[in-house]
Amino acid sequence: MLSSTTLLAILSALALTSVQSAPADKDSLDSLANKAGKRYLGTAIQSYQLVNNPQYVQILESQFDAITPENEMKWEVVEPTEGNFDFSGTDKIVTEAKKTGSIIRGHNICWDSQQVLKNHIDAVIGRYKDDLAYFDIVNEPLNENGTYKANVWYNVLGESYIETALRYAHEVAPKMKLCINDYNIETVNAKSKAMAKLSAKLLAKKAPLHCMGFESHFIGGETPRDIPASMRQFSDLGLEVPMTELDVRIPVIANDQPANATVAKAQVDDYYTSISACLGNEMCPGVSIWQFADPTSWIPGVFPGYGAALLYDAEYKPKSTYYVVQQALRDGKKTATHFKGCKV
Ligand SMILES: *[C@@H]1O[C@H](CO)[C@@H](O)[C@H](O)[C@H]1NC(C)=O
Ligand SMILES: *[C@@H]1O[C@H](CO)[C@@H](O)[C@H](O)[C@H]1NC(C)=O
Repeated sequence: MLSSTTLLAILSALALTSVQSAPADKDSLDSLANKAGKRYLGTAIQSYQLVNNPQYVQILESQFDAITPENEMKWEVVEPTEGNFDFSGTDKIVTEAKKTGSIIRGHNICWDSQQVLKNHIDAVIGRYKDDLAYFDIVNEPLNENGTYKANVWYNVLGESYIETALRYAHEVAPKMKLCINDYNIETVNAKSKAMAKLSAKLLAKKAPLHCMGFESHFIGGETPRDIPASMRQFSDLGLEVPMTELDVRIPVIANDQPANATVAKAQVDDYYTSISACLGNEMCPGVSIWQFADPTSWIPGVFPGYGAALLYDAEYKPKSTYYVVQQALRDGKKTATHFKGCKV
């Protein structure tokens, strides 16, 4: 007969094996996030890289267990002209996610009339209704002062377009978690307060809203210190608060080199602050980075003079930002608030 100590040793060895069997690397970002009580650690990707960049695929598959199509599920790519759909990019992304068992965050829907909206939701959400865990149904609806953006659908349908879109989507995909997603709501300000008010109003009408995406495009040294307080505005309403597009840009000289040690240090601290904010809120399912390697980042194209915003360098080697994310996840395990998802 086995002694109880031996038995315990064998049982814990077995338990360890089963925990580690999914991601091979026990220190990979996704496995560390899972151990810290989170559902996932994700990234945005492009199908072009899946097809053409083996290093990219290797990192994707070994480090991340949630995927967001960076652009390919957007209206102008999926439905370039009315009624004509092109799913070639998104199909590749969904196939990749299913191969590795990653969850998928769909991103995003917009429209210019009620019927066109309904057709688009039927086609896109209908196609992937059993594949996607989350979908950013409404993207960036508010101005900085908290008023509605006068976009084409607001102008046609008024503020009810948000509720209408959520209800259509829920009809088509009753198990999918439906989100609003925006930037500059990561701090308590006019915009996040207005967003919390809008959320409460929608929930009072029993609109199927399940999550508020915190985009989290930060600048090194300027990342808000009150992300936890802003998250509470939404998690107290019962909404999940995923970080959906995290990157931390800094001033760079040539080749994505940080301008100096001060900005590089601020960036590392900001990654720690950001990851810790999600770890500290039981309604935050996980963090998604907006691409993971600097050569594929949107930042240099949109913010000239800034860059180096991600976790891997031009040679696809992990940077100090990668190691600080690991550190934050390891520290988070000690204080883990286990993720409590909302009901759909
Ligand atoms: C809020 O901001 C928008 C966009 O900048 C502007 O058009 C609008 O006049 C502002 N409204 C108020 C009440 O300040
Ligand atoms: C580092 O670079 C930033 C951005 O260019 C600049 O504002 C700051 O003064 C620099 N600090 C040092 C110590 O050189």
